Amino acid sequence: MSAPRSEPPQQVRIALGDRSYHIRIGAGLLDEAASWDALPPAAAALVVTNTTVAPLYLERLRAALTTRYRAVFDVVLPDGEEYKDWATLNRIFDALLSHGCDRKTVLFALGGGVVGDMAGFAAASYMRGVPFVQVPTTLLAQVDSSVGGKTAINHPLGKNMIGAFYQPARVVCDLDTLRTLPARELSAGLAEVIKYGPIADPAFLDWIEANIDALLAREPQALAHAVKRSCEIKAEVVGQDERESGLRAILNFGHTFGHAIEAGLGYGEWLHGEAVGCGMVMALRLSQRLGGVDAAFVQRVTALIARAGLPTVGPALGAERYLELMRVDKKAEAGEIRFVVIERPGQAAVRAAPDDQVREVLAESTR
Ligand code: NAD
Ligand code: GLY
Repeated sequence: MSAPRSEPPQQVRIALGDRSYHIRIGAGLLDEAASWDALPPAAAALVVTNTTVAPLYLERLRAALTTRYRAVFDVVLPDGEEYKDWATLNRIFDALLSHGCDRKTVLFALGGGVVGDMAGFAAASYMRGVPFVQVPTTLLAQVDSSVGGKTAINHPLGKNMIGAFYQPARVVCDLDTLRTLPARELSAGLAEVIKYGPIADPAFLDWIEANIDALLAREPQALAHAVKRSCEIKAEVVGQDERESGLRAILNFGHTFGHAIEAGLGYGEWLHGEAVGCGMVMALRLSQRLGGVDAAFVQRVTALIARAGLPTVGPALGAERYLELMRVDKKAEAGEIRFVVIERPGQAAVRAAPDDQVREVLAESTR
């Protein structure tokens, strides 16, 4: 059972016309009937989870859903970024079809970003689209991946290359689930929290700096604020540019370098958040070279990333290998790599950069 809840749940709305939905944030939400109220009516639900999360939270979610659905099925996937692929995705379709699930069946993604991205993609494509609910259980998923409707699997040649934009019907962030998260995963989630400061909100960056120890200690109020403010910023961006025709790309700050680290080392070697943390250091150095933020700001955010327990030096894949990997990034246009750079604290832009400047950044940022 969860501890008694001290704070009432908070809600952040994603305003997308008839695809609008709420993110509910609070402690003990898995067991609260209100978390699951007024979802699309259906006879059946399928919970998609993995071998790590299932023993922790599956029975609680099943118990809550059994009061709403005649049948609650589940599919337990292997755990790991290396399983974010076609073969594992197909196991979700196998489960849906073998249980005779119809086009009203609601999918529930119970887990981190890997489960959420795969369950979302399955929901987008099963019978051309069934409703789904994100129930994120990692910090990274609560502050980023469960929100905004990006769903995908990886391809050996590029990360998140096969997928769809498909919004959930709701996101339920039970902060209690973060208690069982390994410390390394908590740090990975902090990378995506820190991201929102330089791209959108200098005051939030100040707050994270002042509260990084509380966040690492998992103080409930600090976590609640970090999740809520991150979701508010993401909601604002996604509400303006759902399908990333422009503004939304700023949410990929650090990701161009980071995805190259993940793909270059092999998925699962570094955590996604670790690669993003280090990628942000690289992107900040590039920003400085391109005439954006000054050295003091680069130093300040780099120090925060290190305090969060994240790597700030990248693997020595070789500059040419980084460049090759970054050319398959989704922001690349006609083979030209485009980076999210920080123009000034709180303001980001997407720009190309001369290869030589990127090589210089890689030379000073890898070992
Ligand atoms: P993850 O899903 O692999 O979860 C991290 C680890 O924590 C896993 O081993 C998982 O089983 C375990 N876990 C999950 N919840 C737990 C809990 N409460 N207690 C104990 N263990 C728990 O990784 P992640 O960092 O959550 O997500 C990374 C993925 O998200 C990447 O694939 C990335 O591409 C994707 N992503 C997507 C978006 C998007 O907008 N869709 C945004 C950012 C990241
Ligand atoms: N995580 C980046 C995005 O949702 O656009």
